Amino acid sequence: SPANAPLRADVTVVGAGAAGLFTALTAASAGAQVALVSATPLAQTASYWAQGGLAAALAADDSPALHLEDTERAGRGIVRHSAAEVLCREAADRVHELVALGVRFDADRHGRLALGLEGGHSIRRVVHAGGSATGRRLVRQLSALAVEDPRVTVLERSRAVRIWTGDDGACRGLVLEDGRAIASRGVVLCTGGTAALWARTTNPPGSLGFGLMLAHRVGARLADLEFMQFHPTAVTGVRGREGFLITEAIRGEGATLHGAGGKRFVEELLPRDEVSRAVHEEMERTGAPSVGLDMRAIDPTLFPNVVAALQDAGLDPTRERIPVSPAAHYGMGGIVTDLDGRSTVAGLYAVGETACTGLHGANRLASNSLTECCVYGGRAARAALDDPVPGDAPVPEDVARLPEPGRETKDALWRHAGIVRNHDDLATLLLDPYPLARLIAANALLREESRGAHLRSDFPDLDPALDRHHTVIAPGVAPTFE
Ligand code: SIN
Repeated sequence: SPANAPLRADVTVVGAGAAGLFTALTAASAGAQVALVSATPLAQTASYWAQGGLAAALAADDSPALHLEDTERAGRGIVRHSAAEVLCREAADRVHELVALGVRFDADRHGRLALGLEGGHSIRRVVHAGGSATGRRLVRQLSALAVEDPRVTVLERSRAVRIWTGDDGACRGLVLEDGRAIASRGVVLCTGGTAALWARTTNPPGSLGFGLMLAHRVGARLADLEFMQFHPTAVTGVRGREGFLITEAIRGEGATLHGAGGKRFVEELLPRDEVSRAVHEEMERTGAPSVGLDMRAIDPTLFPNVVAALQDAGLDPTRERIPVSPAAHYGMGGIVTDLDGRSTVAGLYAVGETACTGLHGANRLASNSLTECCVYGGRAARAALDDPVPGDAPVPEDVARLPEPGRETKDALWRHAGIVRNHDDLATLLLDPYPLARLIAANALLREESRGAHLRSDFPDLDPALDRHHTVIAPGVAPTFE
C-alpha cells in the first residue's frame, strides 16, 4: 500500500562517523540524493572520539611510497598491497579536500599543516586538529555540512535492522526498525567496528559490529576478525574514565612508559602491536594492573583535551605518571570489500572500520583509519552511483532487531580473545550466545600462528606459509584461508 511505500534515495549511508559523513557528502556533491541513517547521536561515534589524526604523505621529505612501506611493515605480511597503495596515494588529496570543506587542522608557525609523529611511522605525517581533538573537529564540520545539504536527508536515531535484498540476492535498500524502508542504488555500511565487544575498550558502546552482522546475514563475506588491535595506553583504574585513550601522539612528542620499578621497558614508538605486547608482558611479569605513562615533560597546551579529561578524573599529568594498560581499540577485519568499497553482495558497500580492504593487514598503522574513511568513502560513493536504480518490490515486513551481546560476552572476549590467546580459551567462545563472538573465535582458532595483533601462546611464532593469507568467512561455513 502507499502507506508503506519505500523512501527513495540514490545512496543510503548507514552510520554518521567520518566514513559515513564523507561518503554522504561525496555522493551529494556528485548530485545524488542521499539518505544518512544514524542510530546514535554524533558524539557517540568512534570517529568523534578519535584523537590522533589522519596520516598522509604531506611533508617535503615524505612520499606515498614511504607511507606505504610503513603501512606494510606494521601490517606484518598480510597487507593487501593494492588497497594500501590506494590509501597512501590518495591520502594527501583527501586531506586537502577536508581543508576545502572547512576542517581546520592545526598549523605550524609557518602556516603549513602541522604534522605529528605516531608509532610505526618513519616520519612526521599525521595531520591533527585542536591538538588531539581531531575526530571531534572533523565530525562536527562534516555533520554540519551534511545537515545543511539539501541533497542529504539525515535520519537520526534510526536503526537499520536489515539489508533489503531482491530475488537475485542483490541489495536494493535498507529496512529500518520502525518499518520504513529506503530503496537505493547502493547501501554503504559505515557502522564502525567491533571493539566494544571486548569488556575493556577505548570505543563508544555502540561499536558492536552490527554492520558486520547485517551484511553477513545477506551473504556478505567477512575477513580477518581475529585481528583486534589493542591500544597500549588506555587509562586504567580511574572511575568514570576507564579505557579513556591517551593518544599515541603524546608518545610521539616524547612521553615515556614505565614499569612497576619506574624503569622504561619498551621503545615507545614501535608499531602498536609491539608496544601493547610489551605492556602486557610487563604487567604479567610484575603483577601490576597498569604501567605508568610519563608525560610530565610534554607541553600540556599541545593536548588540551587529554589533559583536561585527566584532570577531571583527578589525575594531574603535569605532576604524576598516568596509570595505563591496553584496551581493545580497532578491528582490522570486517566486511570484505574491493578497492571501491564493494562487498561480495551486489549493491552493498562498506567503508572504514566496518570494511576489510586488507589494507591494515594484521596491525593497523596509527592514524591510517580516518584517512581510510575519506579515501574509501569517496571511492564507494562514486561507485554506488553507477549501480542500477532498483525497481518496485514489496517492503519486507520482518523488522526484528539484531541480538545484542550481554556483559558475559564482553567479559568472555576480553578473557579468552584478549592480547594473548590459546586454543582452549578460544574454543570456549564457540559456545557464546552472540553470533559475532563465535565468528571471531572461529577465525582466531584457524590462525595457528602469532602475527601482528593476534598472539597465540600455543603458536608463538609467525608462520611464513600464512603470509598474505586472510581468514575469510562466508555465511554458514567454517572460515578458510584465502
Ligand atoms: C591515538 O591517537 O593514539 C590513536 C590513533 C589511532 O588509533 O590511529
